[in-house]
Amino acid sequence: MSQAVVEDRGTNSRIVAAYRQKTHGSADLAGQAATLLPSGIAHDARHVDPYGVYIARAKGPHKWDVDGNRYVDYFGGHGALILGHCHPTVMAAVQAATEEGSQFGSSHPREIGWAKAIQRLVPSAERIRFTSSGTEATLMAIRLARAFTGRDTVLRFKGHFHGWHDHMTAGYSNHYDGTPTPGVLPGITHKTVLVAPGDLAAVEAALQSNPEIACIILEPTGSSFGQVPLAPEFLHGLRRLTSLHGALLIFDEVVTGFRVSRGGAQVAFGIRPDLSSFAKIVAGGMPGAAVAGRKEILDLLDFEVSAKAGREKIGHPGTFNANPISAAAGIACLTILAETEACTEASATAASLRAGLNDVLAEAGLKWSVYGNYSGFHLFTNPQGRDITPHGFDPMTASMEELKTQPARLNNRLRLAMLINGVDLNPRLGGFTSVTHTAADVADTVAALRASLAMVRAEGELG
Ligand SMILES: Cc1ncc(COP(=O)(O)O)c(C=O)c1O
Repeated sequence: MSQAVVEDRGTNSRIVAAYRQKTHGSADLAGQAATLLPSGIAHDARHVDPYGVYIARAKGPHKWDVDGNRYVDYFGGHGALILGHCHPTVMAAVQAATEEGSQFGSSHPREIGWAKAIQRLVPSAERIRFTSSGTEATLMAIRLARAFTGRDTVLRFKGHFHGWHDHMTAGYSNHYDGTPTPGVLPGITHKTVLVAPGDLAAVEAALQSNPEIACIILEPTGSSFGQVPLAPEFLHGLRRLTSLHGALLIFDEVVTGFRVSRGGAQVAFGIRPDLSSFAKIVAGGMPGAAVAGRKEILDLLDFEVSAKAGREKIGHPGTFNANPISAAAGIACLTILAETEACTEASATAASLRAGLNDVLAEAGLKWSVYGNYSGFHLFTNPQGRDITPHGFDPMTASMEELKTQPARLNNRLRLAMLINGVDLNPRLGGFTSVTHTAADVADTVAALRASLAMVRAEGELG
């Protein structure tokens, strides 16, 4: 997440003024929150300057704030909502489960159904352990990898996000030199090798020179759902090299899982990772996650197998692991994805959205681009002034730094302008489509970008 603070609060920007004008209720709540919560928020990605909108309810592709403004939502529950908000089948499953109890402190039938629903879509999931968040799933994945291989080092890629636990902070949005972020022990980050995304030769050199590498973990379509895309050959290269050097390959499918294809990136690219992490869609919009993979690795969590092998098992409690409400939502959501074309339809909508937004950029004479794959889209504001056309930009030709750099003030004003015009994007000015976004939503979004660009241009932000 960008750490830039724009300080748009005190400016005389007409965009900021118009935003304040439309969102009195949110402003009031943000004022209260500021006295209770750091920055008034609960997740860094919800930080907006001067304040974010407070949402009262959501349905399908839309959400409504406390002032009654409607937004076409591309935040998509941080990527969790491929079926849109409040899908009726998922909600019915949640309601039925809620009436039966939220926390048994015991095993329950739905956790078996949930595991089967994952296995149906992901052949590499020979065994599954549920956790409460994607962060916990990647933490367990690398712990399993260390215990299984007897090695202590993790190879990761710059810019790739795997949650916020201590092993995963350096090198995501800063500290690319591997130095620890505040509060993290240097001893932990020293056991991390950070490599430039897509650099297979560097991966090979690291594996050759460091026999302590236990695993490679990555976002398989590239960081932030392909904002910095990776070629499929790179993934095949990683599979070959990890097998050759006895390291494990971990696909972090927290976002790609059930979005790139029904079976995630691994099924789409025909690669069988040793371990995978899932969250978001896996729990159908409720909190929940899982680590899955080879039986002999997950057996490190198994009481009986470990006792028989005469080794200490990996401990793993977790009060809300596989909680019945998330399990119900997960089963309902994964069953819909298995039995319908929802995943493909969401991707088709994103393709038409990208095309429509690029038409607007071309019309505005901007050498920017909206690119992406599957049900995602990313805005490229071309910080180096390349000679590109909106429709013709190939992100594979750009570096991570170029793709991730966005001018902070322009970004904030454009985001506010899009909110004023009824569209909620993520902080990088991209987002996810769901199966519920319609052609009308796409048309509204295209019109919103046209109006928003005019607003930022009028403020002199486009040069
Ligand atoms: C690829 C990836 N891995 C892990 C996580 C962490 O998941 P959670 O927010 O459930 O802890 C995220 C969250 O956005 C993610 O995008």
